[in-house]
Amino acid sequence: MLSPILKWAGGKRRLLPSIIERVPNSFNKYVEPFVGGGAMFFELKNRGWITSATLSDLNSDLISLYTIIRDKPEELIDSLENIDYKNNREDYNSARDEFNSNPFPVRKAALMIYLNRHCFNGLYRVNSSGKFNVPFGKYKSPGVPSREQIMEISRSLKNVEIKHCDFESVIREAKHEDYVYIDPPYHPISETSFFTSYSSGGFGEQEQRRLAKAFMSASSLGVFLMISNSDSSLIRELYSDFNISNVLAARSINSNGKGRGKINEVLITNY
Ligand SMILES: C[S@@+](CC[C@H](N)C(=O)[O-])C[C@H]1O[C@@H](n2cnc3c(N)ncnc32)[C@H](O)[C@@H]1O
Repeated sequence: MLSPILKWAGGKRRLLPSIIERVPNSFNKYVEPFVGGGAMFFELKNRGWITSATLSDLNSDLISLYTIIRDKPEELIDSLENIDYKNNREDYNSARDEFNSNPFPVRKAALMIYLNRHCFNGLYRVNSSGKFNVPFGKYKSPGVPSREQIMEISRSLKNVEIKHCDFESVIREAKHEDYVYIDPPYHPISETSFFTSYSSGGFGEQEQRRLAKAFMSASSLGVFLMISNSDSSLIRELYSDFNISNVLAARSINSNGKGRGKINEVLITNY
């Protein structure tokens, strides 16, 4: 069974059952313009629901890693086997320095996997000069992906178009009855909510508005579109013409029926 090779902030594993229930019955191409860890792509592949796909993201290191897994899995496996860094802060910091010194791409991809498994919460964050700066994560046994896992992911990516780009062009290229699953950095529910950590990457209100426009244009061409986002007033306003469902109740309805736990995410479809 395929599963993501990376931990990724905003990873969709928990939400998958709600998303899967709402996937269109049939579609042509699968398009995912904010692919991140790719939980949804791998799930749909496991189910045999994907015939062709385009995956993209603005994170160039992530896209380079997927391209290398697709095209040079053996080289990546060799490179991973040659990583001597162990699970301690000193080695981790050395690996991070090497990653930031722009080594050969296959080595960089292998280091990205090491860093993702050893850093705090599997985060990917860069400073103002574009250097990866997440601290050491202190995990007991972070592990490495097996040869078989990498080969399996590589096979799943054969014939998949993998692009490093902004979401807009990819959504614009989607055709009638393609299925586009959109998982952008969430709009913050409040100034203090933990979601704000996503928007520090530059995905503010203007970006949410630009995305909603792209959603609407593609919708008018008969593309199947689905977006996940926070349950905030801006998101409800932007997608008010579409079908909005609450998902992921933090607590289910309690026994005397009085209180509901907070429901704080929405899934929106145009079908
Ligand atoms: C919520 S995460 C996606 C999580 C993913 N669905 C998963 O399951 O792991 C959002 C992603 O959007 C990407 N991103 C941010 N701004 C973008 C933009 N303008 N165009 C495309 N991707 C962007 C980030 O690099 C990040 O991978």
